[in-house]
Amino acid sequence: MQKNKRIGVFDSGIGGLSLLKAGYWQLPNEAWLYVADEAYLPYGDKTTEKVRERAKMITEFFIKCDVKAIVIACNTATATAIDFLRETYRETIFIGVEPAVKPAAKLTKTKVIGILATDATTESLRLNKLVQTFGEGIKVLVQPCPGLVESIENGNHHEAKTHKLIKMYVEPMLSQGVDVLALGCTHYSFVKKAIRDIVGDSVTLIDTSKPVIDELKYRLSRQKLLSNEKNSKIEFWTTNSIKNDSSKFETFWGNPIKVGYLNI
Ligand code: DGL
Repeated sequence: MQKNKRIGVFDSGIGGLSLLKAGYWQLPNEAWLYVADEAYLPYGDKTTEKVRERAKMITEFFIKCDVKAIVIACNTATATAIDFLRETYRETIFIGVEPAVKPAAKLTKTKVIGILATDATTESLRLNKLVQTFGEGIKVLVQPCPGLVESIENGNHHEAKTHKLIKMYVEPMLSQGVDVLALGCTHYSFVKKAIRDIVGDSVTLIDTSKPVIDELKYRLSRQKLLSNEKNSKIEFWTTNSIKNDSSKFETFWGNPIKVGYLNI
């Protein structure tokens, strides 16, 4: 049965777990396959060609596993590869994640919004188009955050460094009057509290996990592909050494899990 097939989710690392968590809670009947392309993290400093090549390899793994849909739980891979993937694999349903320019533009009162993202996302045509389309009459500050993804991946050991980086990237935006800040990288969901501590309560933070899962639900239901049998199994894979990644995955997932090595 098509409905009982799994949903593939991927990111360069643990960032996409923030989206998977939302999926796990919002769609309790679905089973999932998660791939972290840790051997190629970060995607943010890679060329478009490289990110596309990695996205293609992971997509082919998912297709072999016969998934019913693929969630690109990475703003960088969405920005650089989703059009290419949709053109190449026409039968496959792809759901991507993009910085929330439109919702931020609707919410702002100061008419200054901020987008935090990776280098590759900030340079992408897709983000520039979003800003052009929805940012009329609004000052959109697009801030690349090199080093932040790697620091978040290093977890608690790098808490002070992570804090310092966030401060460095966010403070200039605050002084320009930003009142809405969109998290344009799925890794940043894991440091929402640190960002909140720096920006204070008057700035709205937008995380796109829930709307992405809403969109996935809508697409699956439109095609009569939503599972109606309880099955919330998840398989976790990494392209890096399992020895290094297993405990990290557990920390970010929040429960004991088994992680497999994916040699692609
Ligand atoms: N979580 C990815 C994103 O949303 C991080 C990309 C990276 O590895 O630099 O963009």
